[in-house]
Amino acid sequence: MIQTGELVLLISPEGKRYLRPLDPAQAFHTQEGLLKMDEVALAGFGACVRTHKGHPYRILKPTLHDCIKGVKRLTTIMYPKEIGYVLLKLGAGPGRRIIEAGSGSGGLTTALAWMAGDTGRVYTCEKRAEFSKLARENLERNGLAQRVSFFTRDVSEEGFPEEAHGADALFLDVREPSDCLEHAARAVCPGAPVGFLLPTTNQISDLLRGLETSEFDDVEVLEIMLRRYKPVADRLRPEDRMVAHTGFLVFARHKGLPPEPWTPPAPPESDAAPGTPPDSGTESGPETGPGPAAGEHAAREASGDRADAGS
Ligand SMILES: C[S@@+](CC[C@H](N)C(=O)[O-])C[C@H]1O[C@@H](n2cnc3c(N)ncnc32)[C@H](O)[C@@H]1O
Repeated sequence: MIQTGELVLLISPEGKRYLRPLDPAQAFHTQEGLLKMDEVALAGFGACVRTHKGHPYRILKPTLHDCIKGVKRLTTIMYPKEIGYVLLKLGAGPGRRIIEAGSGSGGLTTALAWMAGDTGRVYTCEKRAEFSKLARENLERNGLAQRVSFFTRDVSEEGFPEEAHGADALFLDVREPSDCLEHAARAVCPGAPVGFLLPTTNQISDLLRGLETSEFDDVEVLEIMLRRYKPVADRLRPEDRMVAHTGFLVFARHKGLPPEPWTPPAPPESDAAPGTPPDSGTESGPETGPGPAAGEHAAREASGDRADAGS
């Protein structure tokens, strides 16, 4: 039994997809006839129901991918291929507080809110009121709006809302993110990951120049390509066309707090009589040269082997 308000994905016999919150009192008008939503509720996920003309519709539980694809859009939205990596890099998950700008149509907001769970929070900022409204409507349709605070503001001028400060991560999908770096550094907790989506390489260069003098380091620039294959077992080959470019991703980390001032430890008081030579035992302290661990570390550095290589 599907509960009232739960999202359902209905698939027509031709493969058309409809994402709806379930209202058992309603009927869904399709090109193949009426679909009674109380029958959908009773049938449950994984089942099939027929329209009054006898056409079968599959009932599926939507995934996050389905929800993102179902977002109504007036702006370009981020593609799932980028969103997946962004979620990993930002450490999105239950209980996490994440800031985002601009909201646009709410594609990334949907994913962040999905991951945040009921204990996390997404703070999404958008300078144009009509897009902020659209993002909210999309999140409401997906049943995720209660996890999100929506702000209509220009983050390059006004910065990020006070209540969002101390956030665990931040993502910018705005035209000129380098104008927002100081605000971003104030809004996140020390060491927090930040990310950016940019459509052109000259925008990356501007951002890199900005990052050089910012509170962020550990910079990574990349793009993600997705090539689909025709799922035909006997003639398996790539699709003829692909979306070759969507955007570039840049990630960095807040530098964190500076180290405490260092005071060298006082030399141990020696019981030995003056003039006694220092202990020449076999144990060596760190000051006697690199131990095995340090040697191994140096070798790994020389070979370019980084702990995060290939991530
Ligand atoms: C490409 S859209 C974002 C799409 C969004 N990531 C999604 O997945 O649906 C870029 C948005 O950033 C907004 N924007 C640009 N500069 C901004 C700024 N300084 N402050 C807030 N929003 C801004 C634009 O109005 C636009 O709606």
